[in-house]
Amino acid sequence: MGPRAAPLLPLLLALLGRPDPGRAEGCDLQPVTAEPPVTLSYATSTVQRGCVSSSSLGSGHEVHVLSIEWSKVSAFLLKVLVTPRAGDCSRPVVLVLLCAHCAANVTSPCPDLLIHTDAHLLGTMTSQDPEPPMATGEGQLLAWARETYGGITSYSEVRDPRWVQLRLGEDASSPPDCIPRERFNAVLHLETEVFFHGVKSCSHGDAQSTKAAHIIHLQPEPSSPITEVNLSLICPERARSSQILILQSRAELTWSISTSKCDIQFLVSGHYKLASMSSEPIAGELLPDTEQGLVAKAFEKNYSVIASYTAIPTSTRICLEIQEHEVVRSAPATSTPPAPTVSSVAHMLLLMLKPWKCTDETMEIVIARSHLEPIKDVVNITLRDISCQAEKNATHFMLKTPLSHCGTSLEGWGHANNELILNLATGAVLRSVRVAFQCKIPRELFLYLFPTAAFEEPQTELEVNKETFVQVSMRWEDHPADLQLKECWLAVPRQEPVLLVQGGEARGAGVAVLEGPPSSHGRKIWRFRFTYAVPEGGRVPFSANLKCKAGLQNNTIFEKVLEVTVKDGWRLPNNRGLGLAAVLGITFGAFLIGALLTAVLWYIYSHTRPISKLQPVSSTAPASESSSTNHSIGSTQSTPCSTSSMA
Ligand SMILES: *[C@@H]1O[C@H](CO)[C@@H](O)[C@H](O)[C@H]1NC(C)=O
Ligand SMILES: *[C@@H]1O[C@H](CO)[C@@H](O)[C@H](O)[C@H]1NC(C)=O
Ligand SMILES: *[C@@H]1O[C@H](CO)[C@@H](O)[C@H](O)[C@H]1NC(C)=O
Ligand SMILES: *[C@@H]1O[C@H](CO)[C@@H](O)[C@H](O)[C@H]1NC(C)=O
Ligand SMILES: *[C@@H]1O[C@H](CO)[C@@H](O)[C@H](O)[C@H]1NC(C)=O
Ligand SMILES: *[C@@H]1O[C@H](CO)[C@@H](O)[C@H](O)[C@H]1NC(C)=O
Repeated sequence: MGPRAAPLLPLLLALLGRPDPGRAEGCDLQPVTAEPPVTLSYATSTVQRGCVSSSSLGSGHEVHVLSIEWSKVSAFLLKVLVTPRAGDCSRPVVLVLLCAHCAANVTSPCPDLLIHTDAHLLGTMTSQDPEPPMATGEGQLLAWARETYGGITSYSEVRDPRWVQLRLGEDASSPPDCIPRERFNAVLHLETEVFFHGVKSCSHGDAQSTKAAHIIHLQPEPSSPITEVNLSLICPERARSSQILILQSRAELTWSISTSKCDIQFLVSGHYKLASMSSEPIAGELLPDTEQGLVAKAFEKNYSVIASYTAIPTSTRICLEIQEHEVVRSAPATSTPPAPTVSSVAHMLLLMLKPWKCTDETMEIVIARSHLEPIKDVVNITLRDISCQAEKNATHFMLKTPLSHCGTSLEGWGHANNELILNLATGAVLRSVRVAFQCKIPRELFLYLFPTAAFEEPQTELEVNKETFVQVSMRWEDHPADLQLKECWLAVPRQEPVLLVQGGEARGAGVAVLEGPPSSHGRKIWRFRFTYAVPEGGRVPFSANLKCKAGLQNNTIFEKVLEVTVKDGWRLPNNRGLGLAAVLGITFGAFLIGALLTAVLWYIYSHTRPISKLQPVSSTAPASESSSTNHSIGSTQSTPCSTSSMA
């Protein structure tokens, strides 16, 4: 059954009064309208509409017009990279970027980049012209660019991009006028990775098994130079029952598959290799090249749910992310995509900005108000526990909380889960949007100081002659027992470092090792207390470093340095000595008690305050509270679908 026969078959069967094989099986592929079971994006240089021209050559600028369309949500953090041809940034460049309600991060090594845009620009280093062109359609837009700048180097309309890379450069051999054409091949100046929204699915009517198949069907393109496809496959942490991935392409194509923890079967046409395992391609098997044929193939292998069926053009890079929820419903298709709502805009924006940061003890959220511009009228932001409300200043929303508070849950390893609740005021109506998120807890050594044995509310202040409680912790899920606390030191500038704890035992005077809580969620915790007393004749420093090391049996060491400010009961915090008000207060008090006492107090103060204004912190100490991990082990997983592949 060839590709041409396929569309005819259902018609023929219908004429003959017989159901077609797909329907007979009770599996009729339908577009997915609810939450899609997979997220798929692929690299391409074919744009919806586009053109190039040499008309800008005689003018003062190279002019690129990029018009972004969204078929689903209209808010997204779009990455645009503008790269010069052969590193030459000498010619001034104008970028017209139309992307309504979109947040864009435009980066370029060229400083002379003028951006006309209606998008909200984030973290851009280029000059920005605030005036986007007033144009209602493609014709007006191009006319505006021609009138304003004398020519157009390129025009591209791109649908649903994850990122766009624009390569600069003008060509005298391009047509004199930029006249847009459908499905324009912009390979010389543009590459993009676009999301695919036409996923279809179905399940076998009397399906007993829940074995599910995902099918990617590359549409053959005549004279395509592509011989290798890089497929990044991402699976949910909680693996579902058995799944198969069926990859259909031209037989000459090699699939290079990289996965993260995917327990999945493959059925591949052409050749394939698994990036982590084999270097030699494995020969696949011949697969049918029609929709029905592929569905039948899955059934033949006893996979009775077609969780996703995707037909895309042949591409060099595909990213497939299998979602956790993949309930297949054979609901009738609705052809219009849902309109973007405030809620979907907020979801996309926050999940792109990822404004949260976790340690294994705390969660911190900082959101620049300017980034929330696409969502209007945010009144306040809370976590799942609405008593945890973000503070705000003129530019930011901020929230910092222990992981044990505010409804944070620690299901699974290495992540803290909560929700951001945005309260919006739209006119008189108040409404809220909830965005659930996962905050990654880094796998490094953490140090905390606490003022009391309750080990609540960590601080970074060390008070002289007062007990301080220290907690050292780290996630080591695989074998928590392997990880041991080696030693902790207190280093004070110009004084001998003091050994506090070594090999799990107290060393210094006034140090006591405390029983830590049992490890949970793969997190190991050690605790001790100590009292910092200034040695006789020594001066009270302004800061000190607490330094701890933990290690594995094989001599891999994790190290962390915490810079703390030293608080002297006498010296007021955040103040280098007594302020005028304090001196006046002392004087006034003394007036009542007697002038002699003033003299005594003043004498004591002037003899205990440090002589140098601010003692230098030892030059080897890090500048701020920072960590250094000697040997970093464990993979910091790079997301294969991120823009790192752009370069
Ligand atoms: C913009 O992209 C650059 C390069 O990828 C990145 O370094 C920077 O952090 C991004 N800025 C924002 C605000 O996302
Ligand atoms: C599919 O299931 C049937 C009946 O359970 C079994 O006979 C057959 O061998 C299975 N086929 C495959 C490819 O596993
Ligand atoms: C595919 O991935 C390999 C290894 O990561 C890389 O060397 C190769 O250039 C990639 N190919 C394409 C077409 O991106
Ligand atoms: C947030 O703002 C809304 C609207 O002003 C208000 O009803 C709500 O009580 C606020 N939430 C908190 C936690 O203050
Ligand atoms: C608001 O707080 C943020 C985060 O602490 C800070 O970076 C920013 O400078 C503050 N802005 C103003 C205007 O104080
Ligand atoms: C030490 O062991 C850990 C796992 O237990 C491993 O990841 C690491 O690579 C080892 N380091 C060395 C230097 O052998």
